[in-house]
Amino acid sequence: MIDKLKLIREEALNNIKNINNIEELEKLRVKYMGKKGELTLILREMGKLSKEERPKIGQMANEIRQELEKGLANANERIKEELKKEKIQKEKIDISIRTKTKNLGHTHPLLATIEELENLFISMGFSVIEGPEIETVANNFDALNSPENHPSRDLSDTFYINEEILLRTHTSPVQIRAMKQMKPPIKIVSAGRTFRFDDVDDTHSPMFHQLEGLVVDENVSMANLMHTIDIFIKELFGEDMKTRFRPHHFPFTEPSAEVDVSCFECRGEGCEVCNGTGWNIELLGCGMVHPKVLENCGIDSKKYTGFAFGMGVDRITMVKYNIDNIRLLFENDNRFLEQF
Ligand code: PHE
Repeated sequence: MIDKLKLIREEALNNIKNINNIEELEKLRVKYMGKKGELTLILREMGKLSKEERPKIGQMANEIRQELEKGLANANERIKEELKKEKIQKEKIDISIRTKTKNLGHTHPLLATIEELENLFISMGFSVIEGPEIETVANNFDALNSPENHPSRDLSDTFYINEEILLRTHTSPVQIRAMKQMKPPIKIVSAGRTFRFDDVDDTHSPMFHQLEGLVVDENVSMANLMHTIDIFIKELFGEDMKTRFRPHHFPFTEPSAEVDVSCFECRGEGCEVCNGTGWNIELLGCGMVHPKVLENCGIDSKKYTGFAFGMGVDRITMVKYNIDNIRLLFENDNRFLEQF
């Protein structure tokens, strides 16, 4: 019987060493220690043994059982560990894989110009405000003293939404909004989109940008206006730039002027770009706020005066960045935009 036990032990330990999964493990457990297991049977036959043999063999059989149990437990651990490893391996994600990189954009040249202009005016004590692109006829024309028959009111020049609402044709209605909301002293600029029924060519687009400025206070004079514009142009384009004021007409300013500045190319010498004149014409419109406009907004025109100016931001951007076609500013072709 001792030999038999030794044999069982050896065989069982060997088998345990080689098991690879839970099913095999269970089979082995049953084979040796199940109800009809080889070891169980031996323990059951103990009764047949002599009194001397019984304790010896009993002890041996128990030790073997413990040994096998321990072996099976170890094998169980080993199999679980392997399963876990396999699972981790299967679920592994390669976080080092290369993905498409996203290109970081940068400021559009138009916005860069607007920000530069706004910062310049902020440094001169102006505040920046905003106005809506969809405006009332009242703010866009009526309050700005535009006569009923003014050509800019024409259906063929202006995008009307209905009889009272339109896409603003200039940023000047922001003047009205500012004067109705604030009390003098007022010193604001406002930039944004404007719309006119224009055909597209190299320098025209039905959607374009303007920057408006307004100052209202006691004793504001034409000299203040001219000085402000002169400083601003020099800051923007260089100390050697000159400004020239030509009389003009706007319904909402009186007197009014158009401003020319030295040609950006030749700085005043005269070249092909400026047709030899040395001047870049019509860079902005300006004037003293019409007393009627002040009164329309509830500001006492006997006590207060003001000046206003408006300029085309697209035009300034094109000059600054040497862009010869306005379409390029709106097509958003990255090959173009990446150059700035
Ligand atoms: N709104 C005028 C235009 O669009 C420009 C302007 C603004 C003129 C302010 C005078 C004062 O042409």
